[in-house]
Amino acid sequence: MFDLSKIWHFYDFLRKKEVSCHFVININTYLCALKFIAFMESLDQGNKVIDESKQGEATVLNTSVGDKKVYIESYGCQMNFSDSEIVASILQKEGYSTTKNIEEAELVFVNTCSIREKAEDTVRKRLKSFRKLKRNNKKLKVGVLGCMAERLKSKLLEEEKLVDLIVGPDAYRDLPSLLEEIDGGEKAINVLLSMEETYADIAPVRYGSNGVTAFVTIMRGCDNMCTFCVVPFTRGRERSRDTESILEEVRQLSEQGYKEVTLLGQNVDSYLWYGGGPKKHFKNLSEIEKASSINFAQLLKKVAEVDSTVRVRFFTSNPQDMTNEVFEVMASKENICNFIHLPFQSGSDRILDLMNRGYTVEKYKERIDKIKEILPDCAISHDIISGFCSETEEDHQATLELMDYVTFDYGYMFNYSERPNTYAAKKLTDDVPEDVKKRRLAEIIQRQREHSFIRNKSYVGNTYKVLVETVSKKSEEEFLGRNSQNAAIIFPKEDAKLGDYVHVLVEDCNSATLKGRIVSKA
Ligand code: 5AD
Ligand code: SF4
Repeated sequence: MFDLSKIWHFYDFLRKKEVSCHFVININTYLCALKFIAFMESLDQGNKVIDESKQGEATVLNTSVGDKKVYIESYGCQMNFSDSEIVASILQKEGYSTTKNIEEAELVFVNTCSIREKAEDTVRKRLKSFRKLKRNNKKLKVGVLGCMAERLKSKLLEEEKLVDLIVGPDAYRDLPSLLEEIDGGEKAINVLLSMEETYADIAPVRYGSNGVTAFVTIMRGCDNMCTFCVVPFTRGRERSRDTESILEEVRQLSEQGYKEVTLLGQNVDSYLWYGGGPKKHFKNLSEIEKASSINFAQLLKKVAEVDSTVRVRFFTSNPQDMTNEVFEVMASKENICNFIHLPFQSGSDRILDLMNRGYTVEKYKERIDKIKEILPDCAISHDIISGFCSETEEDHQATLELMDYVTFDYGYMFNYSERPNTYAAKKLTDDVPEDVKKRRLAEIIQRQREHSFIRNKSYVGNTYKVLVETVSKKSEEEFLGRNSQNAAIIFPKEDAKLGDYVHVLVEDCNSATLKGRIVSKA
């Protein structure tokens, strides 16, 4: 039985050390490794939610303003990476400039993730590695931001002695005064969650950007209370961002030459702007106030109308909130991409109920059928949790069956990881043995690999409008771009430039990659 997390690290290691591998491992091991790389890339393809290759990446702003240097490292989902841009932007006003070189920083921030135990372990290890830095630089201050800060609060100060500052996801505006406190040698903490905070007025400064694609946060928090999930505790109540401030941000991105925006939120379909405040207060409004509110379908349409040459994507949807109105808006606007990330977590009604997901398998299938009816070319991806409390072989088979029903383009597949203080941790038993969890997850991943290959093969022979996003990691001579369905395609550069739209004929594929050539400018 293989350990997926070890394989992941092996894969990541190989990916980063591509060339030197030739010298350190024999050819059989290398060929086997290449198979792993292709396999893992097939799972990784299109991943913009949790991009494994970006974990621990430093936030660096394009502009340098102050003498003081801050190093910010981010983990977890895209929301965290976007939050780091807000933090960097707040610190810029305090005279800090960002650096990629941790050695020259006087302030080191780690923006953390709590979604699974492994994510927290990674951060703990990273924090330990700062000991030497602190020994060498007595002035150095270390801050923990994000979900782990919120979940562990002052306990983290006790457990990780080298940490000076703890700041939760809704408290970043307080950073200037917290920094003053730690300047005086004190430890400081602010983990207050807010019902209103959306950082709507803070212009995020894009960092390490390709200048082509950008993320725009449209809401924060989550009210869903899935029993396995720590997010409602770490990111607080659901609240939406002012529609006008979102449109203004998209307008600015368009003026700066960006060609794609991805609207971000834990549950974007639940977006509801009614003047500010938590979603749960909406029901108390008068009928007139309710009528003037803006839902996700309306927002999506408005964003798409800002600039028809700017593509629009969104992440993450939930089956119970996804309306036909959204599908219809998607069908009516050429620049809204044909791609939906729709987690289903389990194919068993009994498990979905235990997870408090708020839908049944039948309802999920009904949403899928509707997508296929209104948006026949739409790609769909998923999240699955394998080995949730009391999951039987029968439940597991039901998950595989639901995968077969949909034939997802790709997905994110996880073993259940019990998170402290969630309903599942308090009331349910994490009773699926580790080896069974791993075997089931391997079966799910294998099934997804087969489906990704089927989906990739269906693209071969067709021509797609592709946005040129980056230079391929494998060759300087090739670009990587995506079609509307979010499939990544590699093709020779010819005379195209980053940010161009080109028509690409897909000529070949494996389960990981599509290869093609430009047939015309779009
Ligand atoms: N264990 C494993 N996976 C989890 N997710 C959320 N909480 C847990 C957990 N405790 C997964 C879900 C969610 C994705 C962002 O992370 O699949 O959709
Ligand atoms: Fe967590 Fe469920 Fe909210 Fe997603 S919808 S963030 S899984 S509580």
